Amino acid sequence: MCGIIGYVGPKPASPVLLEGLRRLEYRGYDSAGVAVLQDDAITVRKKKGKIDEGIARTLADQPAPGTMGIAHTRWATHGEPSDENSHPHLDASGRIAVVHNGVIENYEHLKERLLDAGHEFQSGTDTEVLAHLIGVHYERLRDGDATPDLLNEAVSAALREVIGTYGIAVISSEIPGVIVGARRGSPLIIGIGEDENFLTSDSNAVVAHTKQVVFLNDYDVATVTAGSFEVHNLGTDTADVQISKLEFDAEDSQRGDFEHFMLKEIHEQPRTVENAIRGRIDSEGATARFGGLNMTPAELRSVQRIIIAASGTSWHAALIGEYIIEALAHIPVEVEFAHEFCYRMAPVRRDTLVLVISQSGETADTLMALREAKRRGHRALAIVNVVGSTIAREADGGIYMHAGPEIGVASTKAFIATLVCLELLAIHLGRMRMLSAGQATKTFKGLEALPAQIEQVLAQSDAIREIALKYAEADDFFFLGRGYSYPTALEGALKLKEISYIHAEGYSAAEMKHGPIALIDEKTPTVFLVPQDFMYDKTMANLEMIRARKGPVIAVASEGDEQIARIADDVIFIPKVRDELNPLIASVPLQLFAYHLAVARGCDVDKPRNLAKSVTVL
Ligand code: AGP
Ligand code: GLU
Repeated sequence: MCGIIGYVGPKPASPVLLEGLRRLEYRGYDSAGVAVLQDDAITVRKKKGKIDEGIARTLADQPAPGTMGIAHTRWATHGEPSDENSHPHLDASGRIAVVHNGVIENYEHLKERLLDAGHEFQSGTDTEVLAHLIGVHYERLRDGDATPDLLNEAVSAALREVIGTYGIAVISSEIPGVIVGARRGSPLIIGIGEDENFLTSDSNAVVAHTKQVVFLNDYDVATVTAGSFEVHNLGTDTADVQISKLEFDAEDSQRGDFEHFMLKEIHEQPRTVENAIRGRIDSEGATARFGGLNMTPAELRSVQRIIIAASGTSWHAALIGEYIIEALAHIPVEVEFAHEFCYRMAPVRRDTLVLVISQSGETADTLMALREAKRRGHRALAIVNVVGSTIAREADGGIYMHAGPEIGVASTKAFIATLVCLELLAIHLGRMRMLSAGQATKTFKGLEALPAQIEQVLAQSDAIREIALKYAEADDFFFLGRGYSYPTALEGALKLKEISYIHAEGYSAAEMKHGPIALIDEKTPTVFLVPQDFMYDKTMANLEMIRARKGPVIAVASEGDEQIARIADDVIFIPKVRDELNPLIASVPLQLFAYHLAVARGCDVDKPRNLAKSVTVL
């Protein structure tokens, strides 16, 4: 959740930290702060609110001089968003400053102990407790002058007492030029510059400065100076440092001429599809090929069941994946919320392959599901976007989405990229079973035609906005569909909820009549997904039921469907594609619909309230 950036080098730290915070803001944005060190003194500036209105203004009025520091953008878990609860937090002596992503689960117990020892706290956060605890060990371990080792050891000692998740960066006013970082559960990365180094929770924050990074592992503690870094693992007592190269540019995470990242990312989708397909079609064998599944054909052939675990939009992609894999590969698929899979102890057959899906590769629920699957002895693959993320590194094998940085909090292009990966995976598994070369080739051709077809939908953005404006006052929406369009409808409803705060329910168009239809009236519009696929006639019958109860209908239908034009109040036409590809085209107008409605209602599309891009708490 949220973000950390630390800098140590020759430049003034505040501008570097502020720029890093702006690049991290999509991860959490209820408050932000910096701690900068100069002449044995730490200056802390922190402010509730978004970066530009909050910390940026504070720093303009009250600069924080120094060439090293740490900074944080927060997504509150403990204590409301406020100036006091913002990070960095100081220890009791005021010498040590800490920024933290994650949750200290046993903070109450630790806090009681510290309160008994006379500590006073300024905030309601779990993080401040950790800062004080580090301070206690710092004092206890101190033997003469403060050294970089002392800070590292104090952090390590405190973390041995902590239950929970953390990515932290810590500085001491007595030890200039040194930042200590550590992680468990929340990501932390060292960015290696020239005569300068960085610590961050997200490579987006450092890619403008360097492409050389070290992805830290759980229980790693790192000591970073301008010219060096050392890593030590508390669990294994070893140091395993691998330098990786970032494969994207700073411009990839810029908004360009688009008003919002979300709109930019929606418009990138034709390229997203191309990038996810590139190099993965084996025309001769009429199958898909992947570089990193790390499973032999025999192993893949012996898979009898698949469980897909994911959260949010990735869970919706998984539901669509269930339909695709069952249709193309004839393997039974079960989709689980990642958090349910971890804790409900469902019996899982030995020949089950577990697949997790995550754009960020850091979602705590999904990471736990992956670990649980591995603990139970299952082969666990992952479909992930962020290269080098924790899930990508811990999975036995997997498929990268290649969607590039996704900054908009509402996932769009990563969803489409996931669907492409699932189509390809289904073909790969299907071709080992009953899927004919002819059928596979038809789906490949359909995938290759998609970029141009998505462009056609994008070209209707203005018309979709007109429709959205017509319904901008509605308080409730339904999104309905059947077959492949059912999970697509769930995703359409989620997009609308997340960014416009309008209540929206995604439902099966058929299930509707068993209860929710009671909610339909002339003020409750329904977005109906009725492509001309195998469910068309049945879905049309469901649509009539809504019309009979005076519910306004916005249909997403196949080009050339004259019948729908007569029945629905508004129609968005999409190109006709193969059934299994329908979600990849039908989702695009739903994204645009949600986007335009949210803009019309004055919502902050890229940073919706209460949300954060990657949820690294359980
Ligand atoms: C997407 O629009 C959401 N903000 C959210 O549901 C997201 O899909 C979910 O948190 C999972 O994220 P992940 O794909 O990075 O694991
Ligand atoms: N648990 C900490 C807090 O509430 C950190 C939250 C975060 O990851 O931003 O302040």
